[in-house]
Order: sequence, then C-alpha cells, then structure tokens
Amino acid sequence: MMNAVMNSLTNSLMNAATNSIKAGENEKIPRHVAVIMDGNGRWAQKRGLPRIAGHQKGASILEGLVEHASARGIQYLSLYAFSTENWKRLSEEVSGLMALFEHYLKTKLDKLKERGGRLRFAGRRDRLSGSLLRALDDFERETQDGTGIQLILCIDYGGRQEIVDAVKKMLAEGADAASVTEETVSRRMYLPDVPDPDLIIRTSGEERLSNFWLWEGAYSELYFTGTLWPDFDNEALDAAIAAYAVRDRRRGGV
Ligand code: IPE
Ligand code: IPE
Ligand code: MG
Repeated sequence: MMNAVMNSLTNSLMNAATNSIKAGENEKIPRHVAVIMDGNGRWAQKRGLPRIAGHQKGASILEGLVEHASARGIQYLSLYAFSTENWKRLSEEVSGLMALFEHYLKTKLDKLKERGGRLRFAGRRDRLSGSLLRALDDFERETQDGTGIQLILCIDYGGRQEIVDAVKKMLAEGADAASVTEETVSRRMYLPDVPDPDLIIRTSGEERLSNFWLWEGAYSELYFTGTLWPDFDNEALDAAIAAYAVRDRRRGGV
C-alpha cells in the first residue's frame, strides 16, 4: 500500500518535471518576450524633432528586430505600442500614432507573412478607428495559420482593463464565486492561448510596468535598459536575452 502511494507520488513528480521542461521554463531562450517600447519622445527631443519623428523611427526598427527575435528562437514577441493611458496625450500625437500603426500594418509586415509569422492584437477595441480595426483583423485572419513567431501588438492595452474585461465576461456568463479561479480568470484574458511573458524588457531608463501584462507578468523576469527605443538594435536584444539566461526563476519554490 505504502509502496503504491510512493510510486504514484514519484510518477506525478516526474510528470511535473517533464511538463515544466516541455513548457520551456528552464530554457535559456525566453519563449515569450514582451517589450515596453519607451523613449521615442526623448529620442526626437534630443534631435530637435517632433515627437512623431521618434515614433516613426521607433516603428522602423521593428522589421529587423522581429526577424532577429525569430532567428533567436523567440516564439512570441509582444509589443506595448499604446496604453489605455496614452489617450491623455495631445490629439496630434495620438492621431499620428494611430496613423502610424495602420501604415505599419499595411506596409511593413510582408516579411512576417512570408515567413509564416502570425499577428495578434491585444487591447480594447471600442476606442480604435474602424480602419485600424479592419487592418488588424485582416492581418490576424491572413496569418492565423502561421506557425512561426507570433507578433502581439498591444494597442489601447491596459493590464487593469484586461482584468476588468475578464471579470465582466465571467459575470455575463453567470459565473458564481466557486467558479472563479486563477485558471478560469486566465482563460478570459485577451489571448488565453499565449504563454505568460518570460521576459519583459523596458527601454529608456524608466523602471515600471505602466500597466503592461499585470496578470500575465506575475512571474516575468524584468529587464531595464537606458537605451531609448529607437536605438534598440539586435545587440540590445541579445544583451537582454543573455541577462535572462542567467536568471534563477524560482517561482516561489527553492
Ligand atoms: C513610447 O515612447 C511610445 C508610446 C508610449 C506610444 P514615448 O512617447 O513615451 O517616449 P518618451 O517616454 O516621451 O520619451
Ligand atoms: C508605456 O510608456 C506605454 C508604452 C510604451 C506604449 P509611457 O511613456 O506611456 O509610460 P509612463 O507614462 O512613462 O509610465
Ligand atoms: Mg514614455
């Protein structure tokens, strides 16, 4: 009897270990890298340029970076492009950013398609323009069978809003208290099939999350660099991956 209990305990421990290795937890390459692309305004300001010029330069580095991330084995790359709080900015900057997102989707993502990458959107839909939503939806649909890197664009994204939206979904489904668990809440986040970020990078020297991946980032490794986003290059990404590789992810264990 005791032996049977011990055997089943050993088996379940071994299964847990195999599963966690499968999940990529102990690997040196982060499966999901999330980036808070900050510092575009300061990059432009330093050059006496309008803020939008910083955003344009910031968008222009993405193509190469996505390619590099994919070559490094990163499977999910999420980009914080516009927060639920960024609407506070001058309307000129907001409309410039929205136009830039649309332009980027329509002209700069051919390589992602060619290489079997997939585009995903995370954020509120109700405040975005019809034409931007169409561009996002079209791209998502056209790449939905892609098996390469998943590029997640977070636009009008807020971590608190995402949790509020999940609670609303549960209430609308008539959930009772007993059915509210970490698992059921997780399944109502914007992209439940995407694994939690292993590594969150923030550029520009600010050391805060600014409402990014609050639920999913519970055990993400954080990496801060003073580099302004438009100056973030392949070497900068490699440096972040190298820093991640030596982190000890205990997740509350020992
Ligand atoms: C990040 O750069 C891009 C967005 C928030 C859209 P910022 O525009 O915040 O640049 P700084 O922080 O003012 O330099
Ligand atoms: C965070 O940057 C949002 C994005 C990069 C999209 P912000 O520049 O908006 O954040 P704060 O205001 O410095 O916290
Ligand atoms: Mg900023």
